[in-house]
Amino acid sequence: MAENLIPAWWARLRGKLGARPCPYRFAWALDLPMRAWHASPAKILGAFGLEPGERVLEIGPGTGYYSLPASRLVGAEGALVALDIQLAMLLELRRRNAAADGMPVLVVQASAVEIPILTGSVDHVFLTTVLGEIPDRPRALAEIRRVLRRGGRLSVSEQLPDPDYVALGTLRRELAPLGFVEERSRGWWTYTSTWTVT
Ligand SMILES: C[S@@+](CC[C@H](N)C(=O)[O-])C[C@H]1O[C@@H](n2cnc3c(N)ncnc32)[C@H](O)[C@@H]1O
Repeated sequence: MAENLIPAWWARLRGKLGARPCPYRFAWALDLPMRAWHASPAKILGAFGLEPGERVLEIGPGTGYYSLPASRLVGAEGALVALDIQLAMLLELRRRNAAADGMPVLVVQASAVEIPILTGSVDHVFLTTVLGEIPDRPRALAEIRRVLRRGGRLSVSEQLPDPDYVALGTLRRELAPLGFVEERSRGWWTYTSTWTVT
């Protein structure tokens, strides 16, 4: 989510919006009330189909808008690892989780292009409004493919008016050659899309 919508969209329309992490000082935008209406955790995580007992990796959790509900969904039998490139985001996520007396969430500061997790060890990876911020997206998608077990799932949500929005058509073009098979996709300006590793 780029920091200032109008200049960011203007830059995007001119082809000049670089991929970079949303700065922590704009993290407040992740908690805007309108999100609860079009992209609530229940709606998005429900569409992803997170299941109790799954080993889940969330990439780019930010301050944890989806992480805390996700950790409750996977429960004590499962595990949630939240990997973000920015330490400030992860510290806030941890603070919120402690304040909510939430389930354990393992936070990892790393980049999506070099995931410090064993090959084939994850059941489900999800990213919400993150893909457009990653400069080397093909490398990140290959890393996601590597850490997922066979039959594991990747779920993505992109949400307008995020200027870093990645269209579903683009996602399809990028995932299909990597051996991901589309399971289900819903929506357009806020969409969810879940894929299985063959
Ligand atoms: C717009 S925020 C979205 C936060 C959260 N997913 C949500 O929907 O509320 C994007 C997050 O992705 C993280 N991010 C961006 N590029 C990344 C990368 N290459 N590797 C890991 N995390 C990244 C940012 O630091 C930021 O916390």
